Amino acid sequence: MKKVDIDWSNLGFSYLKTDFRFISNWKDGKWDDGNLVEDNMLKVSEASTALHYGQQCFEGLKAYRTKDGEIQLFRPDQNALRLNRSCRRLLMPEVPVETFIDACMQVVKANEAYVPPYGTGATLYLRPFVIGVGDNIGVKAAPEYIFCVFCLPVGPYFKGGMTPVNFMVSDYDRAAPYGTGGAKVGGNYASSLYPHEVAAKKGYADCIYLDPATHTKIEEVGSANFFGITKDDKFITPVSPSILPSITKYSLLHVAKEYLGLETEERDVLIDNLDEFKEAGACGTAAVITPIGGIDYNDKLHVFYSETEVGPVTKKLYETLCGIQVGDIDAPEGWIYKVK
Ligand SMILES: Cc1ncc(COP(=O)(O)O)c(C=O)c1O
Repeated sequence: MKKVDIDWSNLGFSYLKTDFRFISNWKDGKWDDGNLVEDNMLKVSEASTALHYGQQCFEGLKAYRTKDGEIQLFRPDQNALRLNRSCRRLLMPEVPVETFIDACMQVVKANEAYVPPYGTGATLYLRPFVIGVGDNIGVKAAPEYIFCVFCLPVGPYFKGGMTPVNFMVSDYDRAAPYGTGGAKVGGNYASSLYPHEVAAKKGYADCIYLDPATHTKIEEVGSANFFGITKDDKFITPVSPSILPSITKYSLLHVAKEYLGLETEERDVLIDNLDEFKEAGACGTAAVITPIGGIDYNDKLHVFYSETEVGPVTKKLYETLCGIQVGDIDAPEGWIYKVK
């Protein structure tokens, strides 16, 4: 295996060009077989719908190195299914689940040198995406599409990893009540850049978005889902069509119940009722579990467990989830895909 000179333990979440990416093209109603390429530049028509009308969607998943040096993917089938839900929402062709998983496997194998060693806390992040391309100018679905998967080694998304960080409630919305909040499409993220900048300038890690219809319920924590642990040890996470259904969140619902014996509930979380939680966190593939120290709402900081220490339930959830992902703890049936 090729050797790469990377300081694994100090990786952040930034782009690094790896050697190969998978590309497949959709034309005349079908995908071609696709193949691995070295060039990380895409050449597309200036009239591509992805560039003008945001006709694109993406995914994020990770490959993990186990103690015995093997590599495994965590629930890639769920990412494939979500990508296809996003594709349907934006009138783009779906990518067969087997094609999606096979493309991820090919990319990981071809870039094996970049899969961080076990125990470093770093992982290989995979970014699959579909974009509308080809010559078009009216607002309509593209005549052609590209499906691509690239990868890069990453460390923690929020600086500090398992150290709590603070968030502020944003006055802005990332998605509309019947819009595309539940799909992983670029427009949601474009509209979050400015509110993020406002939050960052005030010293917060990111924004908390409330439900766009009433601004009374928590929806997202930046680009992660919210969970809270009530004083009587229930794992609570909000539910709404404008929240992106996080694969990590659904995995944690299972882990909380089946591994930690906690009661779980998906229900509204009122921003005026933060007192019900003794711990809170943000969860997602990139964020893993980031403990929420406090939430600034109406210029008052509500602190959960602590601004500096992770709470015991959040810690246990983190250890169990990460243990499953790296193969130290037995996973539920069908969660782990070995890269061979
Ligand atoms: C807006 C948003 N919410 C939540 C998540 C977490 O989802 P997942 O756990 O599937 O990575 C992500 C990241 O994909 C996201 O972008």
